[in-house]
Amino acid sequence: MEMTLRLSPRPLLATLAPAFLLACPVLAQAPQAHPDDMILARKAVMNQAEFNLGQLEAAVKAGEAQDLGPLTEKAFNIAVLIQALPHLFGPETNYLGQPNADAAVETAADSKIWDEFDAFYAKAGEVTAAAQAAASVTDAAALAKSVADIRNACESCHSNYIVYQPFGAALGMSLEPADD
Ligand code: HEC
Repeated sequence: MEMTLRLSPRPLLATLAPAFLLACPVLAQAPQAHPDDMILARKAVMNQAEFNLGQLEAAVKAGEAQDLGPLTEKAFNIAVLIQALPHLFGPETNYLGQPNADAAVETAADSKIWDEFDAFYAKAGEVTAAAQAAASVTDAAALAKSVADIRNACESCHSNYIVYQPFGAALGMSLEPADD
């Protein structure tokens, strides 16, 4: 009786495939960038900061700063909003510095933001610090000074990092303090 031991030859690929798969780094799902949404988010953040700051300025102007509690809360809101702000300026939103034919959203952010991001970042820190100071005032005079400091710090960033839009006002942009 003839006994034949038949070793079916395993195809080379079948032998190596599991090892190959193990050696392969798991193909991570690349995070999806949403630059248009990022631009919309930073505009919403700043419009909300503008809303709070406008209310503070109106209260200071009207001499209504007796009840400091609600006003310092508005200042605290500004501090939180502007602390988050620079993180909404990802380089993928540098539309004015790179071709972005598909962009559905407009931005006035100057491309030099990404050339000198540390300086830009520091401008946000100045606003946050001024707003934190305003959030902890204990008298109306200190509030008035801190509110002016916040506005000046906002404008300091805008004058450096916004591309001038002659029709900005017509588009509903409010970048200037209300006329006295
Ligand atoms: C670090 C820089 C920086 C700081 C700080 C900053 N802004 Fe801005 N702001 C910008 C830039 C850049 C834009 C343009 C954004 C864009 O079009 O993508 C802008 C846009 C705006 C707009 C227009 C938003 C729109 O709908 O188009 C308003 C309003 C505004 N800022 C208010 C404020 C207020 C109020 C503060 C302070 C409490 C402030 N910003 C602080 C850089 C800054």
